[in-house]
Amino acid sequence: MARKILAAGNWKMNKTASEAASFIKELAESVKGAKNEVLICVPFTNLETAVKLTEGTNISVGAENMDYHDSGAYTGEVSADMLLDLGVKYVVIGHSERREYYNETDKTVNAKVLKAIEKGITPVLCCGESLEQREDNITFEWVRMQIKIALKGLSAEDVKKVVIAYEPIWAIGTGKTATNEQADEVCADIRACLREVYGDDVADNTRILYGGSVNAGNAAELFAMNDIDGGLVGGASLKVADFTTIANA
Ligand code: PGA
Repeated sequence: MARKILAAGNWKMNKTASEAASFIKELAESVKGAKNEVLICVPFTNLETAVKLTEGTNISVGAENMDYHDSGAYTGEVSADMLLDLGVKYVVIGHSERREYYNETDKTVNAKVLKAIEKGITPVLCCGESLEQREDNITFEWVRMQIKIALKGLSAEDVKKVVIAYEPIWAIGTGKTATNEQADEVCADIRACLREVYGDDVADNTRILYGGSVNAGNAAELFAMNDIDGGLVGGASLKVADFTTIANA
């Protein structure tokens, strides 16, 4: 089993293009030779800058969303081809903030995952339960349902290309990280679900990240857990020193 740890930053709606430029120059120096794979997912307006400034570095660049149509009358949306043309390699799909504020559903998430794979962009597929769902003891069922619907229509070979990010909603941006055990048991159950549906090869080779208040202090312990293959990092990815620690955790 050789799942390389991925430290993925999710900038959300932060940094103008000029702020991004100076940040990325500093980050590129700082994460040179980092132990883990490094990815930054940035706002659309920063993608061109980010791709240019990371050329020849160990940093990959992702978008935070994309549409599932190829082109057409979808005002305000961005297509897979638009991302590909800029040299973008990853795209976050179905983040809980998009599901909550922009009405994304398991169905649209599925359509986006299929489109990303069709176009050769790696989706970082987000899933996770709310606090109420956790208290109602339906976390495993809920997350399994999200994953099964999101991956529907992909071949086993294609599922392996997807990066899954388990992000309990109650842990995002709250400073309330899931415990190592809480995070790992859901990631393990996602892997068990992949094993049931797609078999051992997919289960053993698909990367499953944890996200939700990952920081410089807790990343190493989280990433050392059996079924956690890295992190999707919001707040702490906006600070060069913290994200560098995470990139080496
Ligand atoms: P956070 O965000 O690290 O600020 O909790 C994580 C995410 O939403 O991806």
